[in-house]
Amino acid sequence: MNRIGILTRDCAGINAAIRAVVRVACFNSIEVLGIQRGYEGLINEEIVPLERFDVSGIINRGGTILKTVRSKKFLTQEGKEKAVETIKKNRIDGLIVIGGNGSLRGAHLLANQYNIPVIGIPATIDNDINGVDLAIGSDTAVNVAVDALDKIRDTATSLERIFVVEVMGRNSGYIAMQVALAGGCEEVLVPEREFEMDKVLEEISAGYKIGKISWIIIVAEGKAKAQDIAQTIIENTGYETRVAVLGYIQRGGSPTALDRIMAARLGSFAVDVLRKGESDKCVCANENKLSTIPLEIAIQPKQIEIENYYRLIKILT
Ligand code: F6P
Repeated sequence: MNRIGILTRDCAGINAAIRAVVRVACFNSIEVLGIQRGYEGLINEEIVPLERFDVSGIINRGGTILKTVRSKKFLTQEGKEKAVETIKKNRIDGLIVIGGNGSLRGAHLLANQYNIPVIGIPATIDNDINGVDLAIGSDTAVNVAVDALDKIRDTATSLERIFVVEVMGRNSGYIAMQVALAGGCEEVLVPEREFEMDKVLEEISAGYKIGKISWIIIVAEGKAKAQDIAQTIIENTGYETRVAVLGYIQRGGSPTALDRIMAARLGSFAVDVLRKGESDKCVCANENKLSTIPLEIAIQPKQIEIENYYRLIKILT
């Protein structure tokens, strides 16, 4: 293996993973080509060489130094063929793809249909990679959201208000459940669980009767809009209710120590695995041990623990 390519999606910890890949590759006398703007850049041949000093000072920076876009072209036959042409033309012996479900789907396609040696590194705030305990970026996202929530709670308590806080996660309730438990929230609404609005309203009214003065309800973006939930509460109870949509602050920012450590270990392991001739796999650190799972499995829908978490959240409020 003489030359590897690397392309990424966007979340905190990805730069730390790029750094690890580049430095471990350099250590093993392998050249690294950075592919800018994800699969779009692979199609358009937007390539920069990455040497060990090109990744200095990025371990603590959110986002991706390689930039990224969602590529519509890569979904077409022509786009895929151009991407493969770029890989061949630039004599890339193996590709490392760092990202979430969409990125890993592309990685699986290149490995499976075009026989390109590809290893995926899971990195997404949604933590929705099947068979992977923890994706890079999700710990930072949860910490950012909990920090924001602590601030919101100050106001909720001072002004005796209800707050409905919307968190990201696409179709996954992972961030919402973590944040609700870590933030001591009263209610959490996630795509994986049915909820009865009447029951939520009853609980709020019953709480007020016994002196409960503030509420924080977490809503996963894949379940409902915070604004709609707040409106229903106002119309049915008359209590003062405000909305906070946390949005993209959860995806950016300096990665937590845990995400940096994951990035270092997975980045390094991905190079090792690629050098051994493995392909079409996703690296992970399940139960703190480095291993691989087939990309075909990693891109399937992930089931997460909901009921026990939910029960605990309700007992603790
Ligand atoms: O998959 C990560 C994520 O941040 C989701 O939580 C969110 O729904 C989505 O990406 C937003 O995508 P975009 O950056 O394309 O708006």
